Amino acid sequence: METTDYKRFTITAALPYANGPLHIGHLAGAYIPADIFVRYLRLKQKDVAFVCGSDEHGAAITIKAKKEGISPQQIIDKYHTQIKESFEEFGISFDIYHRTSAKIHHELSQEFFLNLYRKGEFIEKYSEQYYDEEYHQFLADRYITGTCPNCHSEGAFGDQCEKCGTSLSPTDLINPISTLSGKPPVLKETKHWYLPLDKYQPWLEQWLLEGKKDILKPNVYGQCSSWLKAGLQPRSMTRDLDWGVDVPLEEAEGKKLYVWLDAPIGYISATKQWAQDTGNDWEKYWKKQANDADDSCLIHFIGKDNIVFHCIIFPAILHAHGGYILPQNIPANEFLNLEGDKLSTSRNHAVWLHEYLGDFPGKQDELRYVLTSILPETSDSEFTWKDFQARVNNELVAIFGNFINRVLVLSHKYFDGKVMPATSLTDKDRLVLSELQRYPQAISSSIEHYRFREALSQFMNVARLGNKYLADEEPWKLIKTDEERVKTVLNISLQIAANLTLLAQPFLPHTALKLAEMLGFYEKDWALAGQEALLPVGHQLNNAQLLFEKITDEQIESQLQKLQAAKASNSLASQKKAVTPAKENISFDQFSAMDIRTGKILTAEKVAKTKKLIKMTIDTGIDQRTIVSGIAEFFNPEEIVGKQVSVLVNLEPREIKGILSQGMILMAEDSEGRLQFVRPAEEMAAGSTIR
Ligand code: 2FM
Ligand code: ZN
Repeated sequence: METTDYKRFTITAALPYANGPLHIGHLAGAYIPADIFVRYLRLKQKDVAFVCGSDEHGAAITIKAKKEGISPQQIIDKYHTQIKESFEEFGISFDIYHRTSAKIHHELSQEFFLNLYRKGEFIEKYSEQYYDEEYHQFLADRYITGTCPNCHSEGAFGDQCEKCGTSLSPTDLINPISTLSGKPPVLKETKHWYLPLDKYQPWLEQWLLEGKKDILKPNVYGQCSSWLKAGLQPRSMTRDLDWGVDVPLEEAEGKKLYVWLDAPIGYISATKQWAQDTGNDWEKYWKKQANDADDSCLIHFIGKDNIVFHCIIFPAILHAHGGYILPQNIPANEFLNLEGDKLSTSRNHAVWLHEYLGDFPGKQDELRYVLTSILPETSDSEFTWKDFQARVNNELVAIFGNFINRVLVLSHKYFDGKVMPATSLTDKDRLVLSELQRYPQAISSSIEHYRFREALSQFMNVARLGNKYLADEEPWKLIKTDEERVKTVLNISLQIAANLTLLAQPFLPHTALKLAEMLGFYEKDWALAGQEALLPVGHQLNNAQLLFEKITDEQIESQLQKLQAAKASNSLASQKKAVTPAKENISFDQFSAMDIRTGKILTAEKVAKTKKLIKMTIDTGIDQRTIVSGIAEFFNPEEIVGKQVSVLVNLEPREIKGILSQGMILMAEDSEGRLQFVRPAEEMAAGSTIR
């Protein structure tokens, strides 16, 4: 069935982890495309459930809690609220923004698990899993990092390499390290319940590769076929964790459901909650109906790192469960980069939505516009602040805003804000109106094929059409000689403006509303778009307000500086990271066993045939003795004679290159291996004790 043939739609957007605020990459990956699509469907009078919520389980949450030194519950409460607010601010029009910590979600996830368990779908397997001996716990996939066996980049996680996108098991990693203790983990036996993905492989090949060849985006199809080609393996649906949905089996006490089992079920539990709240029937949106033609059309909007879970694992779960509809499409986007670098939460290389709103209050649509123009639909794309400024100033302000402002101001000036009749049409008028008429269809087709950039640019062409028409007709000149003609020109321009109000709704909801208020035109039916008489003659317009303002150079500069500052503080943090880890504690007795004294270098010379060694005579206050030290790369012998130093005088004498060295000079060494003498701030008598 064609997408447009469906009457009812279940649209999901990936549940973001409640472990941090949202940034522009989130919007560009899943939420803006999903919102445009949903707003469009609603304008087409379709029945839509648009669901999302916070993903509150999994290692993403517990790792963050550990980092912030608060409980996982505090983490999810904090970020769930913040994320929900950001979505609301940017007009992402979910019917419900739910959360996976909700009881209804835990119950439904357990029901899914038990259904598969009772049907005997799971394989029960004892296996060896990585365990951190220092922390006495099994390690979630995300708690293990190492080298990716596929692309050989460092820092791949136990479930996935974020560099090449390969889905991994922890034991695939080369040189695995526990992120808890920083030490290599050991393997230990544990029991888990596996979903036999290999068993569903033939079905998946048929349903996905054959059935969806022509409708999946090429980037999605490509990833799926390479996974299927590689051959699917059983995947464990349970984990040894202390945060998540309990496995509903007695013998599995202390174990939790795999987060990628429960998270997509979150789409269903969110719909259930929404239906309960609104008196709707959730099953219509998720279950197969008696007649196929009555099924809801399920579409998952996601980013590319979620493809395998939505195209293979979740459909396999739904299929194994039975009774549920399967996704009709999974329009995944690639990644958005920022100023030449990957967006990164941990490096704070991001444009955070809550910060953007603080810096650009009321400019949600400006960001929506720019992000839509550069959506990573077919390959990774790039956000730069200069480009943001150029697109806002040269497109939104100079074309769309300018057109609307001129039509309204002129209508008020010449005709007291009333719509005048278009009396006799010229060829040019007819051409403009016929162009206007064909745009809605072009925009529809682009949206229905998930080409939102193209759709937006068609939309802007309507504004361009209006702007050019006014510039060509010059009503401000005509008014002196031909008022009738001005009535016609403004009528046509106002019809274009009314069309823009309708057509802007999927892309720029805040602007569409402002425009609706200015024009007194509140229609929400896409079928009206393209018509030339949306505003009747005599209709009273409201006052004009500016739709958009220019973004200044200073605003851009300050954003660039913010990114620079993040980079700088990041490199400081990475220097800090380079600090050698602390050693084991020692007792006070062990410390006081060391006899450290101030001393003075009396003579110094390089040890022949060595690069690093200097032989010194030191006045220790107790005696004068020879000490050999590996400092020649940093100091010239002549420079150090006469300097005060600290000496460990009771270190057992050792022979170095045939010289008996009687003690050790204390040095401070930084992460780069640079050395400095350690000595009292002011010179003291040789032999003074240091403790
Ligand atoms: O990658 C992520 O951010 C996941 N939290 C997405 C989950 S999508 C769905 F399955 F819930
Ligand atoms: Zn890789």
